Amino acid sequence: MKGEFEHFMKKEIHEQPESVVQTMMGRVVKDMEGAASRVFLGGMINFVSTIRRSRRIVLCGCGTSYNSAIAVRQLMEELTELPVTLELASDVLDRRCPFFRDDTCVFISQSGETADTLKAMQYAKDRGALCVGIVNTVGSAISRSTDCGVHINAGAEIGVASTKAYTCQIVAMVLLSLSLSEDSMSLHSRRKRIMSSLLELPNAIRKALLLDAQMRELAKELKDENSLLLLGRGYNYATALEGALKVKEVALLHSEGILAGEMKHGPLALVDEVLPLIIVATMDDSYKKQESAVQQLRARGGRLILIVSEEDDEIAKTAGDKATIVRVPTVEDCLQSVVNIVPLQLLSYHLTVLRGHNVDQPRNLAKSVTVE
Ligand code: UD1
Ligand code: M6R
Repeated sequence: MKGEFEHFMKKEIHEQPESVVQTMMGRVVKDMEGAASRVFLGGMINFVSTIRRSRRIVLCGCGTSYNSAIAVRQLMEELTELPVTLELASDVLDRRCPFFRDDTCVFISQSGETADTLKAMQYAKDRGALCVGIVNTVGSAISRSTDCGVHINAGAEIGVASTKAYTCQIVAMVLLSLSLSEDSMSLHSRRKRIMSSLLELPNAIRKALLLDAQMRELAKELKDENSLLLLGRGYNYATALEGALKVKEVALLHSEGILAGEMKHGPLALVDEVLPLIIVATMDDSYKKQESAVQQLRARGGRLILIVSEEDDEIAKTAGDKATIVRVPTVEDCLQSVVNIVPLQLLSYHLTVLRGHNVDQPRNLAKSVTVE
């Protein structure tokens, strides 16, 4: 089952160029010239107009599935022009969150069996909200009991650390956002750019996977650290959170992902010559702000590791000679998080192996959390 790979996690990381194709299969419709012209989600056609009339969209999940919601929130708001809010499933139940009949609640889950997410879904359903599933496992409880949804078709994910499900969840929700905005003339060119970038995504992931050797070397440098700090913003806030979750979950190394905009509100006090700082600074609307964060961190002697766009010659200079630079291929801004997470998945894998921990079955964790 693992084929040439020693661990399922590594296999699943390397499957991502194919798994995102499976998510898009039959759903990104091409014109005669082979260009992507529209999105077709069979499970959503009868529900698009209801969702468009919603008062808001709520994205809900746990762990990595919640992080995928953070990654698509900005695009979903842009394309649907609806407020999009985020909820951790356990918190929905703790707070008895106000959900209404005119809400669309989207429940994201790889397994489709996570107790908190399932219960939050039942709670939303009881309040009359339209419940949509973004689920990997066909026939799972969440897939069966939502009103409609999209199977991400990532294939079985065995490693406890979610990798390919994360990137496929993002792609599925980008497709959902595109299908919800099909009638908008003003978004026509943006939608076209996203659709053509979707077709380039498998190759971009393939290129990012070539960073494996660099990530193994970086893992050798970081394996004895006590802590890592990851900083991202905009589309890549999710990358910082998800990268940190991967490192802590499998490498059993404390790591924290923060919104770079919050840096000066506390985390900056941690910065010294010892703590490794991983900064996601690919070229998008947040780039200038990330460049200035890099300047400030460098001025405080911070130990910098940057994830940057392959064509960017600027930011490496700003970071200085001592910084480690990781170059990733560029795709449309709203899809960049799919590419940027790949080196961090590889880093967490190599850290785990070098630290001698169980890659596929981290201690104390289960693949599917079926109790509250
Ligand atoms: C479906 C078929 C797929 C086939 C394609 C051909 C299934 C599972 N999928 O894919 O094999 O190739 O038609 O047109 O038979 N749903 C939920 N909640 C969820 C996920 C999905 O209610 O969390 C519902 C959908 O609304 C839909 C059904 O399950 O009614 C199947 O969803 P999905 O597999 O995403 O639909 P298609 O892509 O059309
Ligand atoms: O199956 P689900 O997507 O509902 O699972 C949610 C979380 O338990 C899961 O993503 C968890 O955080 C992963 N182990 C992270 O890699």
